[in-house]
Amino acid sequence: MATITDAPKGLEGVTAANSGICYIDGDQGVLAYRGIDIHDLADHSNFEEVCFLLWNGRLPNRTELQELKLNLARERKLDASIISLLRQAPKHALPMDVLRTIVSALSFYDPEEKANDAEANQRKSVRLTSQIAYVVSAYDRIRKGKPLVEPDRTLSHSANFLYMLNGDVPSATAERAFDIALILHADHEFNASTFAARVTAATLSDMHSAITAAIGALKGPLHGGANEAVFRILEAIDASGADPVEYVKGMLAQKKKIPGFGHRVYRTEDPRATHLRQMSEDLGHSSGNPKWFEISRKIEQFVVGDRKLNANVDFYSASTYHTLGIDIDLFTPIFAVSRVSGWTAHVMEQLNDNRLIRPRANYQGPIYPNRYVPIEKR
Ligand SMILES: CC(C)(COP(=O)(O)OP(=O)(O)OC[C@H]1O[C@@H](n2cnc3c(N)ncnc32)[C@H](O)[C@@H]1OP(=O)(O)O)[C@@H](O)C(=O)NCCC(=O)NCCS
Repeated sequence: MATITDAPKGLEGVTAANSGICYIDGDQGVLAYRGIDIHDLADHSNFEEVCFLLWNGRLPNRTELQELKLNLARERKLDASIISLLRQAPKHALPMDVLRTIVSALSFYDPEEKANDAEANQRKSVRLTSQIAYVVSAYDRIRKGKPLVEPDRTLSHSANFLYMLNGDVPSATAERAFDIALILHADHEFNASTFAARVTAATLSDMHSAITAAIGALKGPLHGGANEAVFRILEAIDASGADPVEYVKGMLAQKKKIPGFGHRVYRTEDPRATHLRQMSEDLGHSSGNPKWFEISRKIEQFVVGDRKLNANVDFYSASTYHTLGIDIDLFTPIFAVSRVSGWTAHVMEQLNDNRLIRPRANYQGPIYPNRYVPIEKR
């Protein structure tokens, strides 16, 4: 029998595969898509260009970018059966659960349902990126009893999402802020949801199954669900009039984790948080309501000083999304609106050089052979 060593809990430090999509240096606080620094992308790029970069491994030229924009716009449509499924969701259904179920159902109506080749998966990546944005905005209106807003195919992916959600074409500032948020959330190497997608794809299942698995993993509060948890804390502090630092101290005294802080990989500030902090501050001031930023900042200063834990991507995305007028339970679905670009890129990379992902468990149960005792003798 092979020598048994303790398995690293949570696969910490395990390198699970080769990948050419996302580079992270957790000690230096570097994040790059296809080698391009996230700060450059946040400052100069747009979400459509980032999709092309993730899916094709390089930046598009003008024609290619225009073509992708047109394809994304063309795919802003849902089968009527999907709309009726959205209408049938029970009133208490959480948008993230609805999204998970609908993405699975989208496969029934996909024109290439049975195809799993590279070209079909490129097209499915475009389709799913458009459809996920459509589903999140449409479900929000349906549950609020509002009429659906037809997509505007002349708008960017970000502007169209906000338009279909709110019914008004967003300001250039809101569109840019949301677009940067999508760029920052697009990929993050082997995070839990991406790994779930790759494990699913590696069985030679299909793109929709992989993305459904990823959405299930993203939902959890240790992953994408943290942004919703952050805002619930900000709200509780505001409603009770509590001092933000005392509130957080109370949570820590009860051995609770503070959502939006800490990271498995970064030992520095999460480079995405740098942009989101700035966005949260700018939007707070331009909207005349800096309250959420100010509460967040007080919490951050305390947690960094007291626990040496840095804010991660979820901490300032909470106040940013709220200031953009987005409901709390849409924060994690919006993470999916962006991350679908990375998930699909990883599925395609996995299939390009596939092998079943099947690790081993370090067995620590009763010693073999353990005797089977008949039921009458137990
Ligand atoms: C992100 C996260 C899941 C990483 O987890 P991990 O690498 O498994 O790290 P651990 O949970 O083992 O944490 C290591 C130590 O730091 C502490 N810690 C980590 N994050 C913390 C937080 N947000 N608040 C308070 N303490 C925290 C843990 O309690 C643990 O302390 P201990 O060694 O005294 O028990 C974790 O930091 C966390 O739960 N953060 C809050 C949720 C969140 O924001 N998730 C989004 C991530 S982008």
